[in-house]
Amino acid sequence: MAKDFAFTGGRPDPYTFPTEGLIEASAKALRKLGGSLVNYPGEKGYEGLRELASMRFERREGVPLNIDDISITSGSMQALELVLGTFINPGDTVLTEEFTYSGTLGIMRHLKANIVGVPMDYIDGMNMDGLEDKLKELKAKNIRPKLIYTTSNHQNPTSAILSLERRQRMLELANEYDTLIVEDDCYGDIDFVPNPTPDSLFKLDDSNRVIFIATFSKILGAGVRQGYFVAKEPHSRLIHENRWDGGCSALASAIVAEFFKEHLDEHLAVTNAAVGAKCRAVVETLEKNVSDICTWTEPRGGLFLWIDLPETTDMDKLTELSSQHNMGFSRGSAFHYRGDAVKSIRLAYAYCHIDDVAEGITYLCDAIRGAQVQPVDIAAD
Ligand SMILES: Cc1ncc(COP(=O)(O)O)c(C=O)c1O
Repeated sequence: MAKDFAFTGGRPDPYTFPTEGLIEASAKALRKLGGSLVNYPGEKGYEGLRELASMRFERREGVPLNIDDISITSGSMQALELVLGTFINPGDTVLTEEFTYSGTLGIMRHLKANIVGVPMDYIDGMNMDGLEDKLKELKAKNIRPKLIYTTSNHQNPTSAILSLERRQRMLELANEYDTLIVEDDCYGDIDFVPNPTPDSLFKLDDSNRVIFIATFSKILGAGVRQGYFVAKEPHSRLIHENRWDGGCSALASAIVAEFFKEHLDEHLAVTNAAVGAKCRAVVETLEKNVSDICTWTEPRGGLFLWIDLPETTDMDKLTELSSQHNMGFSRGSAFHYRGDAVKSIRLAYAYCHIDDVAEGITYLCDAIRGAQVQPVDIAAD
């Protein structure tokens, strides 16, 4: 069977998935919960996983979360649907990095939001002068944006980390222009270097402007569908008024809680080392093959690397040539707030086997060269 080089979709490393640990955790969870599973889990979800989420936050941020502020959701996607659905009405304006998670853009478009893209760079994230300019422009038109959405750590798709200075400035601007911040911390804890991420906006905030969203999808597996949002009152109540499901699986929550209660540090160390090695293999192969024509980001963590291609790249041809070798990537346009046909691509490097990374990326590099079109010489007849 032909090999599959899947650099699409933000999935974690399948080879460090802790199957045995989860089997043990499942037995413990079932013994603990037993017949109580006949009950609905309640709107905020299984308390044990909320405690775990608080502990996870404390591990990195030095302070726990109030477990009453935490609500478990089916992945962070449901958290995004609930939070954005609560605060955005058709025609409302929202701000985000000019490149951001395609799923969030999908929800915002579905809600008929007016999405304003803020300039960013690939290292420190959203540009605060750019944000201030946009906020001023909107104010001049009497528009108060409903929220600023940001992926603060190891951003999808660029791997940028919003710097501490920018976080502080974003909070000042949110106060000045009276808007909320939705901080999506989907990739926090996937670190390749010691402590690369500053304090969260949620921790730095003293004006109740930030709603925090996180997930276990990216440090464990998207198939477990366990995410959460953290919102203080009155936001939490407003969001729950908008929620109609019976809550998230208490059984799945309990298994994740039992496992991570004992193995969070150990699992992160093992899986982050594996993912970091794959990321380095991608960078080395790009350096060897396309450093004369492309530039790319150098992730300090997370699951994504972003490549800027030459302007002369025929994107359809690139897809066609890559797919001849089952080499998959995501087009940059999927992450642009307006869907602009940018000459960039995103690689999600955690899923492919380490032994196949160099081969797949070499196919990609060949495809990049093969997809260059000659600029048209207008002077020639
Ligand atoms: C920034 C961001 N937020 C949220 C999600 C949703 O993930 P999940 O619903 O699996 O937690 C993703 C998935 O790729 C993402 O990249």
